[in-house]
Amino acid sequence: MTEKEILELLRNVRHPGKGDKDIVELGMVHSVDGSKVVLAFPKRRDPLAEYLIGATRAALIRGGVKDPKVETVVLEEAAPKKKGMEFDTECLRNVRHIVGVASGKGGVGKSTVAVNLACALARLGYRVGLADADVYGPSVPLMTGTEGMQPMAEEIDGRELIVPLEKYGVKWMSIGYFAERGQALIWRGPMATNALKQMILQVKWGTLDFLLVDMPPGTGDIHISLLQEVPVEGALIVTTPQEVALADVEKGAAMFRNPGINRPIFGLVENMAWFTPAEHPDEKYYIFGRDGGARMAEDLGIELLGRIPLVQSIRESGDAGEPAALGTRPDAAAFLDLAARFAEKLG
Ligand SMILES: Nc1ncnc2c1ncn2[C@@H]1O[C@H](COP(=O)(O)OP(=O)(O)OP(=O)(O)O)[C@@H](O)[C@H]1O
Ligand SMILES: [Mg+2]
Repeated sequence: MTEKEILELLRNVRHPGKGDKDIVELGMVHSVDGSKVVLAFPKRRDPLAEYLIGATRAALIRGGVKDPKVETVVLEEAAPKKKGMEFDTECLRNVRHIVGVASGKGGVGKSTVAVNLACALARLGYRVGLADADVYGPSVPLMTGTEGMQPMAEEIDGRELIVPLEKYGVKWMSIGYFAERGQALIWRGPMATNALKQMILQVKWGTLDFLLVDMPPGTGDIHISLLQEVPVEGALIVTTPQEVALADVEKGAAMFRNPGINRPIFGLVENMAWFTPAEHPDEKYYIFGRDGGARMAEDLGIELLGRIPLVQSIRESGDAGEPAALGTRPDAAAFLDLAARFAEKLG
């Protein structure tokens, strides 16, 4: 492919912090050499740097460039800077509690619980933020009805920070805000980790009582790196009540209890604890077995902080971007109850 063709592909990469202009127009393409593209950043701390690197790579792959390389150069220093940004925890200075919402395996309702817990805590009067750390499958924009909105970047004391979106009294941040709709995010390991850290460490969180971090499913490298570099105080583990889920919860718990990490687990949330049909709101069907969560909590020595029913309205409200915790139905009460116990537990 010629340099001109590559540049044409790069015109598809837009900088959300710069009025959506493309990177060619912004003069950010430093050089093109075969399948290697070097992006120039005027500042070390462009909060969207990792996102732009990922988006550039994705644009090249989509354009048919095999195994493209994207490097960066910081103009102020006039020296090539490899990936691996520098972060500090300054923007978390006024955040009292940072809690990871985790699970051993995917699809148990971790994001649903995180989003609803955030809304419920806000309803109880706490200052709350939520960072969606699931860089591979961000679901916070959809669940909060903030899809398609774009956070702005702001310079504060010489540092560029991303301003979180605010809705339902909660500050939300997700890599999903920087991706085109329906477009999968293509990351290599270290890039994913950096993008994730930016979503937490380069955000204007301000003063918060609680910052919840919706962790990606599983217990991989990205979790370890997150726990090592972000001062996550401890975890809330979400599970479903089946017998077979115990092993996954054990794995999730082991990650936090690993001697190199060593963070407390504040509690367990049993999601889909029972099924209540919409037409019979007073009935409870224990389709995954009764008291599975309580037994699990006891086995693992973790307090059971909440039990959330499986009800159609929880999924529907999630899909509609209006979390169930904001409503008046019994499922809202389950989340408010969880929020009250969670807040009490953390003092
Ligand atoms: N208590 C519930 N009642 C009804 N539907 C639920 C409940 N909890 C979660 N769901 C639905 O189940 C699906 C998966 O939930 P969610 O995305 O929160 O899981 P997750 O653990 O975050 O998944 P992932 O591992 O992909 O991040 C969603 O469609 C959600 O609306
Ligand atoms: Mg999720």
